[in-house]
Amino acid sequence: MKHTIDNIRDAIYGLEAEVEIEGKKKVPAINLDNGATTPPFKAVMEDISQKLLLYGSIGRGKGQKSQITSDIYTKGYETVKKFVGADTDDYTVFYVNSTTDGMNKLASALIKSTSDIVVSTRMEHHANDLPWRERANVYYVDVKEDGRLDIGQYDSLLRKFGGKVKYVTVTAASNVTGYVNDVHAIAEIAHKYGAKIIVDGAQIIAHRKFSMIGKNPAENIDFFVFSAHKMYSPFGGGAVVGLKDMLTGQEYDPEPWIHNNSIIRHIPCFYGGGMVDSVLDDDVIYTKTHEVFEAGSPNYPGVAGMLKAMEILTEVGFDNIEAHEQKLLERAIKGLSEIPNVILYGDSIKYDDRVGTVAFNIDSIFNTIVADSLAKKRAIAVRDRAFCAHPYVRRLTNVIQANTDNACGREAPEGMVRASFGIYTNEADIDALIETVKLIEQSKVDIDKTSLEYTSNMPNDRG
Ligand SMILES: Cc1ncc(COP(=O)(O)O)c(C=O)c1O
Repeated sequence: MKHTIDNIRDAIYGLEAEVEIEGKKKVPAINLDNGATTPPFKAVMEDISQKLLLYGSIGRGKGQKSQITSDIYTKGYETVKKFVGADTDDYTVFYVNSTTDGMNKLASALIKSTSDIVVSTRMEHHANDLPWRERANVYYVDVKEDGRLDIGQYDSLLRKFGGKVKYVTVTAASNVTGYVNDVHAIAEIAHKYGAKIIVDGAQIIAHRKFSMIGKNPAENIDFFVFSAHKMYSPFGGGAVVGLKDMLTGQEYDPEPWIHNNSIIRHIPCFYGGGMVDSVLDDDVIYTKTHEVFEAGSPNYPGVAGMLKAMEILTEVGFDNIEAHEQKLLERAIKGLSEIPNVILYGDSIKYDDRVGTVAFNIDSIFNTIVADSLAKKRAIAVRDRAFCAHPYVRRLTNVIQANTDNACGREAPEGMVRASFGIYTNEADIDALIETVKLIEQSKVDIDKTSLEYTSNMPNDRG
């Protein structure tokens, strides 16, 4: 079966699975939480189970199964490069478990001193903020009132540091508003001032065609990181694609350095098997290839599933995915904006620079209650709270910087509800969301009474 945008619902594993809602009724779950994670493609499940018939150890055995497995795993590096438009000799790839894993490994590899300057943004997911904050000296480009990145700030910020900024790190698309950033334009400014650019690809990878190569070399992206579980292969894969010269061939720096009372070593970040040329009694010769970042036994199902998902997304075509998402976005924005007391975040008039994500609140109903009611009334899964993007969510909701003793997203007004679409989301899913939000808004008084119960004792805010 050729996968197309019209038949893609048949290609999703578990779409018909039912869950219990109020009144003990069982209905198929509606997943509008694809920004957090996506269900697997059936073809990914089938492909993994086929490949596991011939599963063997990677890069360390001489058996036939080991050779076959190693071959698929190794050829995958080129598939990944091609998928992100980086199939030139300038780039290398290493597999990771997720964007968080990749960003931490990258930060560990690239940052050499706490005085290294990194320019990030106030739109970032914590995964592309904290790994830099904890190791380097980070300055931030802010967002405008409509939530878009204020790209105009880059030039003056980079100029101010007179060529001392080492890295500019930015998300390709926001996990809150879905805004797509013009990372190639940002790359050009970064390069003008001698900085390298790192792009968080978590929210773009399954939504828009992404190429690390720009219209001219100055626009090229230097490092790109993404997770496979956000692209219909939830088995823990992901990759870092980056400049080969900067990631490999470096001498291991034996001098650890101390920051916040912990000992940090530069390159790489994990140590173990598969990353050395030789270990002597009192010395180690680390390999000077991308394998230095892949210590230990690799996650083969994670990699194999990711490669298959790339094949299917390519078959469906990113132009079709984008057009489909735009139609859903239009329907969702229109429907939700007509409901009294619904506050939408992000531009509701011009949204062609947004992937399929809507963030909203119902005035005076706590976001967790709205999310919980959507699940209970109609089995609609959405996200609540601050989506691990606290600084951005605070700005969008006009919440003053919270007392840090009370952090972890527990400040009641700081948050919103997010519905994020997948390739398989359809108009009926959007209509169910709109109808149920309407219902919740209408029963506001009853729901409000339970507010206190919900806001105490809440777990940490995640992804
Ligand atoms: C923009 C963005 N970056 C990074 C991450 C972290 O991804 P992961 O949880 O796969 O490490 C997320 C997760 O939601 C995200 O939305």
